[in-house]
Amino acid sequence: MIKINSRGLSNVRVVEANAPEVLATMLPAGSVSELWVFFPDPWHKSRHHKRRLIQPAFAELAARSLKKGGLWRIATDWSNYAVHVREVLAGSTEFENLHDGERAARTAPSPKCGNPESNPWWAGPRQGRPGTGQHRAHRPNEGVDHVGGWAPRFDGRIRTSFENKAHEAGRMIFDLSYRRI
Ligand SMILES: C[S@@+](CC[C@H](N)C(=O)[O-])C[C@H]1O[C@@H](n2cnc3c(N)ncnc32)[C@H](O)[C@@H]1O
Repeated sequence: MIKINSRGLSNVRVVEANAPEVLATMLPAGSVSELWVFFPDPWHKSRHHKRRLIQPAFAELAARSLKKGGLWRIATDWSNYAVHVREVLAGSTEFENLHDGERAARTAPSPKCGNPESNPWWAGPRQGRPGTGQHRAHRPNEGVDHVGGWAPRFDGRIRTSFENKAHEAGRMIFDLSYRRI
């Protein structure tokens, strides 16, 4: 905001408000070219997942605000939230994933940490009888997410101290990009 002021920019608006309300009441329908939600609070405990910003109701507000063909870009450093976003938007008929199926399986980098159940590259315990070599207990590093759908890193996403902390902690960053149909 200091830079906006010192440079005398007149094409920037800053709003400190609850994002769903901004989408619902401040932005005319079909007025937004791009919507960016970078590192929304992960609410990583299962009992708090309902507090996550990106839910079906928020996706409807996003769809309302965006122009047809408009983009919704999302990034998170929490793999479980990335999967949650992918599931929420897979359930919407108003968005298409620009990178559907991409970076699945072994083409994706392995996560460095996180529990297996929050790790999209973990496909669950192998099926099969114990002792046959097919049955394995949880082995996160062998995990493969067969769904994919991850975008390449968005160049326009400024690297914030928040993202730096995620890298320092060894967490992966997940980008997702959707087009309003
Ligand atoms: C983890 S920080 C990420 C900040 C920044 N986007 C970045 O990439 O570094 C999440 C931010 O979302 C804001 N936030 C959380 N819920 C919100 C809501 N309902 N409406 C608007 N902002 C919200 C928080 O205040 C916080 O600043």
